[in-house]
Amino acid sequence: MRIVMLGPPGAGKGTQAKKIAEEFKIPHISTGEILRKAVQDNTPLGKKASEYLDKGLLVPDEIVEGIVRSRLKMHDCAAGFLLDGFPRTVRQAENLDEFLKEENVNLDIVINIQVEQRLLIERFTGRRTCQKCGATFHIKFSPPKTPGICDKCGEKLIVRRDDDIETVKKRLEVYETTTAPLVDYYDRRKLLVNVDGSKPIDDVFEDIKKVLEGVKS
Ligand code: AP5
Repeated sequence: MRIVMLGPPGAGKGTQAKKIAEEFKIPHISTGEILRKAVQDNTPLGKKASEYLDKGLLVPDEIVEGIVRSRLKMHDCAAGFLLDGFPRTVRQAENLDEFLKEENVNLDIVINIQVEQRLLIERFTGRRTCQKCGATFHIKFSPPKTPGICDKCGEKLIVRRDDDIETVKKRLEVYETTTAPLVDYYDRRKLLVNVDGSKPIDDVFEDIKKVLEGVKS
C-alpha cells in the first residue's frame, strides 16, 4: 500500500503513522523526523534545515523532494510506504506524482486527519518526544510508564524545539496557507479519506484500519 498522511501539525499523523506501519508492515517515512535527526547530528542538511524548523517554516521544496525521492527508491519501499509530513505544498505533491509515474506505481490513499485547532494546542503543550528513537508521548493522553522516560528505549523525553507556542502558531499558519490546499488536490483525484482525529488514539486507529482494510481488499 502507498499511503500519504495529511493533517495539521499536532493532529496525530506521526502517532497513527507508527501504528499503521507496524500493522501493515510498510516503512514509515516522516520528513519531520528525518530533518530533526539531521539537525541533531549536525549534518550539512541539518545545519541548513534548523533555521527553518526553529522558525516553524517549511524547508525549501527542492531539499525535501530530494530526501523523499532517495528514500522512496530504497528497496524496502518497493511494496509500499507511508509518507508522513510529505507532501506539504502543491509543488511537492506534483513532484511526488511525477516520481510515482516514473516508477509506474500509484498512490492508494490519502488519509486526512481532522482536528479542531482548539484541541491541537493541548496536544502540543503535552507532547514529549524521544530524541533517540522518535517515539511520541503525551503527558495526559498517552503518558509514558515512567514520567520523562521513553518506554521503548529508556532515553530521556524532551519537548520538541518547535513546540513552543510562538513557533506552533507559525506552523499552524503555514499549514493553513500552504498545506491545506492539498486536501482539495487529493479530493479531486478521489484519493482523500477524512478521519475524525479528535477521538482517542486507539479509536482513530480503528477507524483508519477499517479504511485501509477496504483499500487492501
Ligand atoms: P513534522 O515533524 O512533520 O511536524 P508537523 O506536521 O507539524 O506534525 P507534528 O509532528 O507536530 O504532529 P503530528 O500530526 O505528527 O502529531 P503527533 O502524532 O506527534 O514537521 C516539522 C517541521 O519539519 C516542519 O515545521 C518543517 O519545518 C519541516 N518539514 C517537515 N516536512 C516537511 C516538508 N515536506 N516540506 C518542508 N518542510 C518540512 O501528536 C501530537 C501529540 O498529540 C502527541 O503528544 C500525541 O501523543 C498526541 N495525540 C496524538 N493523537 C492523539 C489523539 N487522538 N488524542 C489525544 N492525543 C493525541
